[in-house]
Amino acid sequence: MKTPSRGFSAACILLCVSALTVQTVTAQPLRELAAKRGVLYGAAVGAAFWKPDSSYRDLLARECNVIVAENEMKFDLIEPERGRFNWTRADDLVAFAERNGMKVRGHNLVWHAQSDWASKLNAGRDEMIAVMRAHILAVAGRYRGKILEWDVVNEAIDDGDDYLRDTFWRKAIGDDYIDLAFKFAHEADPHALLFYNDYGGEGMNTKSDKIYRLVKDMLARGVPLHGVGIQCHFVAGEIDTAGIDTNIKRLAALGLKVSVTELDIRLKLPADGAMLARQGEEYRALMNVFLKNPTCCTAFLTWGITDTYSWIPQFFKGYGAALPFDENNALKPAGKGLRDALSAAVPDGK
Ligand code: XIL
Repeated sequence: MKTPSRGFSAACILLCVSALTVQTVTAQPLRELAAKRGVLYGAAVGAAFWKPDSSYRDLLARECNVIVAENEMKFDLIEPERGRFNWTRADDLVAFAERNGMKVRGHNLVWHAQSDWASKLNAGRDEMIAVMRAHILAVAGRYRGKILEWDVVNEAIDDGDDYLRDTFWRKAIGDDYIDLAFKFAHEADPHALLFYNDYGGEGMNTKSDKIYRLVKDMLARGVPLHGVGIQCHFVAGEIDTAGIDTNIKRLAALGLKVSVTELDIRLKLPADGAMLARQGEEYRALMNVFLKNPTCCTAFLTWGITDTYSWIPQFFKGYGAALPFDENNALKPAGKGLRDALSAAVPDGK
């Protein structure tokens, strides 16, 4: 009687130990897996960060080795009136990142949106340059040395037939507002990598051709530009990973870095298991493309981390479930896709 029972307990212990091992492997945070591959995984931090519930902060600290403010560093939020700055939340985020060994992306310095008072100034070229310069020197200057990558100019390319979007900055200053923004950012923080960031030009298409032209010309003019952010706000089932790979490679050939800056893959609600599984494949495929281009790709960020806090349901009615973690902060197939790509056998020599 004793032998089988001892055998039984030994088997139990073995089972428990292997269950624990599996547990540890599956629970390995994305930031650790990313670090092993020499890359950063992270997320945009939403206003929920300042709610009393600490589970959101805990999730970010556990999973991310880079963060970006979803809104708090944007023009209107950080300079709500001309010359009056509100640093509280941005400072808080940067301090949180420092405490948790995370890098910070800065988003963004010059954009046509969320810049209300500046857009209504109706000032001439010189005054608008002064407004822009003062803003950039104050914001990028305050976080000098603490920001890995700044999205200096956001979404400057036109979605229609025109080349540049006709923003209030362009109307007042002229086409060189983009070059000037980069020059001021470099002056404010010579350590930060300076990015042009946009959506819709992730793969090979008319918009990415325009982005390519923009950044190539900027480099030819000697503008301090170091990378292109591909936002990656995707609809499930419409992602051209091969085109994204080609586009990343042509940008890399210019000597530029490419970061995935705002990834989410939205699903039509209600999302069923098959949709979530396919979305997981898409997350995995995108991370694989990113990892296949190690010379230029280091930062991979989703626009939020849990479906509890995402801009999608508000901005795209009827859609949601776009992020790697679910409402209980558990890894969805999307997050597992990232994890599987990060922990897979090393492709292409990385
Ligand atoms: C979005 C935020 O997620 C929202 O909370 C805000 O109301 C509007 O802006 N491209 C960008 C981001 O560069 O700054 C946008 O963020 C999403 C699209």
